[in-house]
Amino acid sequence: MNRVESALINSAPRRLLQRLYEVPQLRRFGGPLPAGARALEIGCGPGYGAQLILERFGAATLDAVDLDPAMIARAQRRLRPYGDRVTLRVGDAADLTASLGAADGSYDAVFDFAIIHHIPAWRDAVAEVARVLRRGGTFYFDEVTARALARPSYRALFDHPTGDRFNAQQFVQACETVGLDVGDRCMTRIGGDYLLGAARRR
Ligand SMILES: C[S@@+](CC[C@H](N)C(=O)[O-])C[C@H]1O[C@@H](n2cnc3c(N)ncnc32)[C@H](O)[C@@H]1O
Repeated sequence: MNRVESALINSAPRRLLQRLYEVPQLRRFGGPLPAGARALEIGCGPGYGAQLILERFGAATLDAVDLDPAMIARAQRRLRPYGDRVTLRVGDAADLTASLGAADGSYDAVFDFAIIHHIPAWRDAVAEVARVLRRGGTFYFDEVTARALARPSYRALFDHPTGDRFNAQQFVQACETVGLDVGDRCMTRIGGDYLLGAARRR
């Protein structure tokens, strides 16, 4: 992630968007978490999404990974008040065994706030989400499509993998292939640039 995107992710407008729009939409599609839920966030960035997962979704515990040690350091500072309810690790969302020692079926919910489009082998990350979710668990996703990434403004400002990105249909298909049922529980916005929704582990 380049410096422009890093600054954006660490900004007040990003936090407002996440709190006032993304979280309510994700709750609408995926529902609340069960009591005592164990949640995972992939690509947690500075940890504000993690805070919302604890506060607004009511997760009992939260594990989170990010590839960038600077982001994990920021998240550690933000999430210190939650003590041992939170575990943070530097690591790759496409290999959660190496990152977290995550066992099959070990989480009630997995959250993806705008990270999978950053991963070159993005289908591996979707497969990892399916592997670590228990049956009936929920995958909440908020993603950026190939259409947005191809816009001149995006290409000028940000730095993303260019090959094999996805549209909504391809993302939903990748989920369904690994046992994550989306059904009609997702939507796109701004002409298909963004994708929000939830999938249930079969
Ligand atoms: C666009 S930022 C989103 C951050 C945060 N989730 C948010 O919504 O504000 C993408 C994040 O994913 C992280 N990331 C990129 N590739 C990753 C990977 N393979 N595994 C884990 N984290 C990754 C980046 O370091 C960055 O913090």
